[in-house]
Amino acid sequence: MKTLGIDIGGSALKGAPVDTATGELLAERFRIETPEVITPAAMAKGVAEIAAHFKWRGPIGIGFPGVIHGPRILTSANLHPKFIGCDGVKLFSKATGLRVALTNDAAAAALAEMKLGAGRGFEGKALILTLGTGIGSALAYRGMVIPCEFGHLPLHGKSAEHFVSAAARKRRDLSWKDWGKELGDYIHTLEAMLWPELIIIGGGISAKSDKFFRHVKPRARMVPAQMLNEAGIVGAATWAAETAR
Ligand code: BGC
Repeated sequence: MKTLGIDIGGSALKGAPVDTATGELLAERFRIETPEVITPAAMAKGVAEIAAHFKWRGPIGIGFPGVIHGPRILTSANLHPKFIGCDGVKLFSKATGLRVALTNDAAAAALAEMKLGAGRGFEGKALILTLGTGIGSALAYRGMVIPCEFGHLPLHGKSAEHFVSAAARKRRDLSWKDWGKELGDYIHTLEAMLWPELIIIGGGISAKSDKFFRHVKPRARMVPAQMLNEAGIVGAATWAAETAR
């Protein structure tokens, strides 16, 4: 099936048409920078611009960085607070005139990695973490992906993502070693509760795994995501294909 995958992130939204059987992008991805926090209405305009760029008339899958229950967005830790409580499916389908399937951004990335990337063929319990502006998380077991919010595990009175996301490393000006160790402490806490057999690390930073993986020292086998930053787009497109009626 061919669907349009859109990944909404903390600093940009990007999309591309995807062949969901192979995960192949059918055109070069189109990216709109959002250096400032933008309102749901402005975001919907951006989504419509992506659809128009590809002259898209089919289904759209969107990954959003927040808790999604049905069509509704319940949280927005790193985007505009006006998203909270908003019917995302209605917002984006009204703006595009097309059928929209909405899911959490990390759950989308996890879906892509488990189907076509680093978790392909793995039937055990996997923990997928995406390290970017925040920390996205999902669990996968026997092909089933469950969206999670482990980035908000309390740490020093705040969300852990505030200290150990990729953006936090830059903001705190930490060496790869110091950040890798803090990420390790965080992952050890998750491991004590979840006992994954495989950990997949995604987000743009997964391309630099040689710089920090050795400092993390998890119990489980830990691997970088294979689809790197494309997982969000491919996963959102896959979500649309899987939930098409
Ligand atoms: C959000 C998650 C999201 C993650 C990565 C967190 O702040 O709560 O829903 O998956 O950031 O974007």
